[in-house]
Amino acid sequence: MKFFVDTGSVEDAKKAMATGYCDGVTTNPSLISKGDSRPLEIIVKEITEIVHGPTSVEVIAEDAVKMIEEGQLYASWSTHVVVKVPCTQEGLKACKALSREGTPVNVTLCFQPLQALVAAKCGAAYISPFIGRLDDIGHVGLQLIEDIRCLYETYGFETEILAASIRTVEHLTRVALAGSDVATIPYGVFSKVLSHPLTDKGLEVFLADWNASRPS
Ligand code: G3P
Repeated sequence: MKFFVDTGSVEDAKKAMATGYCDGVTTNPSLISKGDSRPLEIIVKEITEIVHGPTSVEVIAEDAVKMIEEGQLYASWSTHVVVKVPCTQEGLKACKALSREGTPVNVTLCFQPLQALVAAKCGAAYISPFIGRLDDIGHVGLQLIEDIRCLYETYGFETEILAASIRTVEHLTRVALAGSDVATIPYGVFSKVLSHPLTDKGLEVFLADWNASRPS
């Protein structure tokens, strides 16, 4: 499973890349507005130069023609740009057109399996099911990943499942076990991926034993 960092911050992208296990970035308008007030083009170019991997940039327009124009502009900034469109009728029209031109598209705000099926039919490179937001309203977000995996296997779609709205390390483990192709993770969770108190404790004991057996 690929690990993307879910951020609008160039600094977070740098820190995630430094771990050695970050494969890409996803942004959205909320994340960009929190992270950086500079023009989007500058932020995206900086991130792609650091990451050299898929970087999702979301359209703001609400009709397909304008989404396509925005998507074409974003794609001109870097070969690593993936255009992100919402899972709406207009978004999927834009997805189909951009995908036909060879621009990879990430269809976002997916909350039920049929949205994922239709996005795949429209040529999406990635589908982004939001599992945390489903959990927030009392649904089981993980079930959506399992259902989409089943649909894509059954019908042979190559669209990658990009589990989004990940809130915890446990979410990450579960989406990996459910066969997600990618998980996008806020830096706060990214930095905890390797944490385990028994790893820390075990290392402390190994080093203490070693040092005790070889007094300087
Ligand atoms: O990038 C989209 C998604 O990951 C947002 O997550 O935490 O705002 O539901 P969240």
